[in-house]
Amino acid sequence: MKYHIVTYGCQMNVHESEKIAGLLRGAGYEEEGAAEEADIIVFNTCCIRENAENHAFGNIGALKKLKKNKRGLLIAVGGCMAQEEGKAALLLRKFPFIDIVFGTHNVAELPALIERKRREKKVVSLLPDRAETEDGAQPFRTSYPNAWVNITYGCNNFCTYCIVPYVRGREKSRSADVIVEEVRSLVAAGYKEITLLGQNVNSYRDGETDFPALLERVASLDGKFRIRFMTSHPKDFSERLVACMARHEKICDLLHLPAQSGSSRILSRMNRRYTREQYLEKVALFRKYIPEGELTTDLIVAFPGETEEEFEETLSLVKEADFSSAFTFVYSPRTGTKAAEMEGRIPAEIAKARITRLIDCVNENTRRKSERYVGQVIEVLCEDYDEKKGLYLGREPLGRMGYFSAPCNCVGEFVRIRVSRANGISLFGERV
Ligand code: SAH
Ligand code: SF4
Ligand code: F3S
Repeated sequence: MKYHIVTYGCQMNVHESEKIAGLLRGAGYEEEGAAEEADIIVFNTCCIRENAENHAFGNIGALKKLKKNKRGLLIAVGGCMAQEEGKAALLLRKFPFIDIVFGTHNVAELPALIERKRREKKVVSLLPDRAETEDGAQPFRTSYPNAWVNITYGCNNFCTYCIVPYVRGREKSRSADVIVEEVRSLVAAGYKEITLLGQNVNSYRDGETDFPALLERVASLDGKFRIRFMTSHPKDFSERLVACMARHEKICDLLHLPAQSGSSRILSRMNRRYTREQYLEKVALFRKYIPEGELTTDLIVAFPGETEEEFEETLSLVKEADFSSAFTFVYSPRTGTKAAEMEGRIPAEIAKARITRLIDCVNENTRRKSERYVGQVIEVLCEDYDEKKGLYLGREPLGRMGYFSAPCNCVGEFVRIRVSRANGISLFGERV
């Protein structure tokens, strides 16, 4: 029996798919690269923006024929969209050929649901929330030499645009001992980069252990490996955290600090709980401790009621905070969130013009900062081979992708390259 998993959304979901793979392997399935050849196709969905949902809808719909022609093929849909209020029913109405729907709180039940499907017609199992942080699912990791490690699940912030708190439930922190042991064994198994995951890592807490304390413990483990973490909410970003980053060489000097907007009025409407000035104070703190470090961010344009001047404040923030790159999004209304009820929807043409200007503005920073690397030596952690380019690739500590040629497979190795050319966030060079 073979499985094929299709993943949408964030790193959290990528890691969840690794758990799904682990569970299916435990149930006797093997991985299959081609959907047509699989006995079970699992969609791990995302609903953060409308286009993420449309994507999943399109691809699930495209399976109708395959399902008709292949007896015994199972189709399971899980993840954030499945967990969204009313979406499971809509999915089954639109695509009656779906066999199993499961949610974000009961991934570990999937093998049992497959069993149940042998006896029942449709199987839908969505839990409202879950108290425990450990479900026993052993991930089948596919991202070597990087390993994802959850430190928290869920989110309590309720930013007014965001669906995550509704589909991922209340915030829960995993035990610090469990996390440290997981990282220790991953490093012992040869992983060279550990990425700690949470919707808001800065609100991590296990008894006395807060995020800086956890990071301290992880960074004090033996071995040569890098530590990254995401996502850091600016309201909880502390001097202790940045001091810890500065103290440990293992922790990459790259901070992803989503600003969302450069306008204090819009930030307040977003319920982000910081002003532009407070955000810039956090940036200054980071620069003070880590002058050579780099900052990336997430930005939303055309939030309800955003004026032209307020949008321009986001542009000026890109320059003032000097972001190296940014994920930029057009606001997408999500049913059930507060912002979806707000006045002042921005027409699509205006939103499009704004996102274009913002992307240009960010790209200018990226280009300028990458060019500074030409002639320098960087150390990348080789993670893959690009067939099209015929080059190996790996990231340097500050997140840029370095491309180089090598005579033999060096995936999983730290490689020093001299940069000869920069293109956006990609750097090209020769091994030294
Ligand atoms: N927990 C993380 C972000 C998770 S979602 C944090 O708080 O930073 C990733 C990004 O998607 C967000 O930072 C935001 O920029 C964007 N996003 C979330 N909801 C959105 C919406 N309704 N429309 C457009 N972008 C959205
Ligand atoms: Fe969404 Fe805000 Fe939570 Fe991030 S912190 S997941 S943007 S509600
Ligand atoms: Fe991630 Fe999308 Fe869910 S961004 S948390 S998979 S809604």
